[in-house]
Amino acid sequence: MTNPQDTPRVLVAGSANLDFVVRAPHIPAPGETVLGGAFQTFAGGKGANQAVACARAGGVATHMLLALGDDAFAAPIEASLQGAGLTLHTVRPSGVATGSAFICVDDQAENAITVAPGANACLTAAHLPPLPGFSHLLMQLEIPMEAVTAYALAAQAAGVPVALNAAPAQPLAPELLAAVDLLLVNEGELRTLAGLQGSIADCLAHLPCPLVVVTLGARGCVAREGSSFYVQTGFAVHAVDTTGAGDTFCGALVAALAQQTPMAQALRQASAAAALACTHMGAQTSVPTHHAVAAFLAQSPQPQDESSIEALRQYAGLS
Ligand code: RIB
Repeated sequence: MTNPQDTPRVLVAGSANLDFVVRAPHIPAPGETVLGGAFQTFAGGKGANQAVACARAGGVATHMLLALGDDAFAAPIEASLQGAGLTLHTVRPSGVATGSAFICVDDQAENAITVAPGANACLTAAHLPPLPGFSHLLMQLEIPMEAVTAYALAAQAAGVPVALNAAPAQPLAPELLAAVDLLLVNEGELRTLAGLQGSIADCLAHLPCPLVVVTLGARGCVAREGSSFYVQTGFAVHAVDTTGAGDTFCGALVAALAQQTPMAQALRQASAAAALACTHMGAQTSVPTHHAVAAFLAQSPQPQDESSIEALRQYAGLS
């Protein structure tokens, strides 16, 4: 039996939103109105989704620093986070709305999201809990950049590795980038941060962080750790809603790395979790447990198919 003292502790500092979701045949273009289906609400927010993914990955005690408003939207978010077993450090500014997100999901399972930050915008440097004892700090960019930077610098000073999912895409100050140990991005975010027109491999090599992982949707992901590159092809699933799949990847990967899982295995587990997250509607509702991921991986071929690996290597500019 694992001694709770030996269980890695991950702190996620980030956003929590209530997602208002409608499925439609396609995502409306500017000026267009589209008739969709019934609307649903789900607990979401990149920070909260990643915290749930970290907790459901198993083997990690997950804490979350978040801010909620004093309105009815806060309760379903808290219920979801508490149901996932998180330890919450909640800031409650008065007279401020809980963060909300307005999401259209199309029939190809892709989405378009607009976020009203609400209480998420109230997190400041002063809200960071004591860092000793945490094995990683995981953040995103849906809370103020000043808070993200202050938390990253505090973690760096305390010797706690910093994982940053640079989403939504924004330029990062050099002092923040220098404090990041693990940078998690999608292809667009990678190009924004690298500021290069070159290949994915060139962009990965250009960034100063020791470990950079780029997620490439259904294609899979590519990572650079020091001078070593890893590729993990995507798992084929019937996708109904990709919302939260990237968040699931981030949370699952940090949980695996916090447990010293070798990089190739950690990428495989995170990719499987992200694929499964696409098979159900909603963000936190679709994050799989480690049991579901283990069962899925047990019936998935290993090693990866050679021709798929080569196609991914070519796409990334590694071959
Ligand atoms: O990454 C998906 C999330 O982005 C949604 O849950 C939404 O709340 C926005 O934060």
